[in-house]
This record gives sequence, structure tokens and C-alpha cells, in this order.
Amino acid sequence: MTEQTIEINLSNNKKEKPNPDQLSFGKVFTDHMFTVSYSEGKGWHEPKVTPYQPITLDPASMVFHYGQTVFEGLKAYLANDGRILLFRPKKNLERLNLSNQRLCIPTIDEELVLSGLKKLLEVDKEWIPNAPGTSLYIRPFIIPTEAFLGVAPSNHYQFMIILSPVGSYYKEGINPVKIYVEDQYVRAVSGGTGKAKTGGNYAASLKAQEGATSRGFSQVLWLDGVEKKYIEEVGSMNIFFKINGEVVTPALNESILEGVTRNSVLQLLKYWEIPVSERKISIEEVFESYSKGLVEEAFGTGTAAVISPVGELSWRGENIVINNGETGTIAKKLYDTLTGIQKGDVTDYFDWTISV
Ligand code: COI
Repeated sequence: MTEQTIEINLSNNKKEKPNPDQLSFGKVFTDHMFTVSYSEGKGWHEPKVTPYQPITLDPASMVFHYGQTVFEGLKAYLANDGRILLFRPKKNLERLNLSNQRLCIPTIDEELVLSGLKKLLEVDKEWIPNAPGTSLYIRPFIIPTEAFLGVAPSNHYQFMIILSPVGSYYKEGINPVKIYVEDQYVRAVSGGTGKAKTGGNYAASLKAQEGATSRGFSQVLWLDGVEKKYIEEVGSMNIFFKINGEVVTPALNESILEGVTRNSVLQLLKYWEIPVSERKISIEEVFESYSKGLVEEAFGTGTAAVISPVGELSWRGENIVINNGETGTIAKKLYDTLTGIQKGDVTDYFDWTISV
């Protein structure tokens, strides 16, 4: 693909920045956004950084009807030496294109997106929060914009990146969360879209999430869509358990999202020579191991969630409290190491961070 020039159009209406000590997740947005349009014949074109602004769409635009959308989530950090650091952005862009392929959206030039993201971050650098546990969340996404009511891939799309200064995803912060094992609804099935980062997977999760919330739980743990037996993932993160000295996480399949944080955690555990395996884990195994005193800790991993310890699991009316409801040693070490690497405070053995 020939190199495209990214147009930059700065806002002259700067918004007030939030107090970095009071940030929640995804409610405040920066002054600019990055967009690229797609149309047949032209391909992906007109990359530009513009003021953050509402978009106007025809009510027949396909985005409003059949859910042909994809998105990503990654984060930027401000290092103590003033550099802007991105954590493994190429993994997210690779995954974006895998999601595109599954949703019949034309793949986008990953280098173009990375260049646009870097320009956007330079322009909105002052929005990167610096308080402990905060970062600038980056949300790339694609919507189909053709006005057409037939069920078919759109011929027009809009790619956008918006930025949001964030604190913890969960109201518990870095404290353990309570998780409800969903026994009625399923998130995804083999051959479905579970592996893709597409809005429909999250829409389909809301009913179960509503039930979990009303029972006092933060998140839902999904079981496989056929037997409701094997553990898959949590609503916004992948899941790990330490059982009888070994860290285990469900092996990837067509219905589990391949998390970038999940992959990073696996690499760190192997590097520390902590026994770890990716395999099928049934929910019975976790509850039976618990009854034998073998479940040492549990935690979730995700870009938004970072490392979130799991303090309690509820399945079919039975509740188990893991590690006395406290953060486990592995979860703590992973959290400190990952956030340290992301902020440039800990040696980046794996060359994960990219300086903008
Ligand atoms: C992320 O961790 O970035 C995600 O996309 C999860 C999202 C549902 C908050």
C-alpha cells in the first residue's frame, strides 16, 4: 500500500481535563480523534486527526441494523521521563484485522493505523493521566456506514480511534472481584464470533451481566456454549486459576477472545519458571479442587481490567471464597510487573512497549 499523508486539523476548543485521582472507566474523551474512511474503489483513505466531534449518519446506515462492527482496546502511558509508551499495539492491530476478516470488513493497513494513533497521541499527550492505576485508554473501532437494509457486507466503512483517560475498570479497583458463573445463557459457540472483538458478543452478554449485577457480582464467568461445562472467559477479561501449584487458563478455541494481556501473562509466568498450562478446565474441577483446599488463587487479565484478582465465585447456588477474598501473590506480582513495564519503570525484557 502506498504511504498516505495523515491530515491534522486541530481543535481550538480545548475541554477541561478531569481530576486524575477521580477517574473511572470510559466516561471522558479527549480533544481529538483519528478517522479513516473506506469506500469501494478507493479502499481505506483520507486518514485524519480531527477535533473530537459527533458524527452524522443516515438512519439506514448498516451499523444501526445488523451489528457488523469490530473494536479494539489498548492503552498509552506517560513514562517518568516524559515518553509516551504504548503496550504491544501491533498485537491489537493484528487482532483487529482478524476480527475484520470474521465480520467481512476489509482489512486495514496496520502501519497506517499505528502512524495515525501516534499522531493522535502526540496531539492529545496532555490527556495521559499520571496518577497510580491510571492510563489513556485507546478505542479503535470500525462501523459500516452504507445506507442499505439488505443483509450483506457494507460497501462503506468508517474507522475511528477515540481516547479516554481512565482509572480502574471495576469499582473494586485492584481489589478482588466477585464473579457469577453463568449457567443459563452462553456467550459464544464454536463457529460463532466469540474469537472476534465484535459488538454483538458484548450485546449478547448483557442479559447475564444484568442478572449477575442484581445478585451483587461484578462480572459473569462464561462456560462453553455446548455443554456449559468448560470455563471460557469472563465478560471483560480472560481467566486464570492457580490450582495445586500450577497456573492454568482455558486453552484458546474458536469462542475465546485471545487477550493481549493473557498472552503477556503466559510469557511472564514461563519466564519466572512458574508452572503454567493452557488446557480445558471444567467448572466442576475448580469447585472440586476448592473442596480439597487446592485452589490457591484466581485472577482475570485484560487491557481494561489489567490483572483483577477474583475473590469469590458462585456457581449453581454454591459460593467459594478464594484466598480468603484477598489478592494472591502471583496476581500481585503480575500486576506490579505488567504495570511497571507499561509505565517504563520495570525492565521490558520482551520489548513489549513502543515509544511514540
Ligand atoms: C478491553 O479490555 O480493552 C476490552 O475491550 C474489554 C471491554 C469490554 C472493556
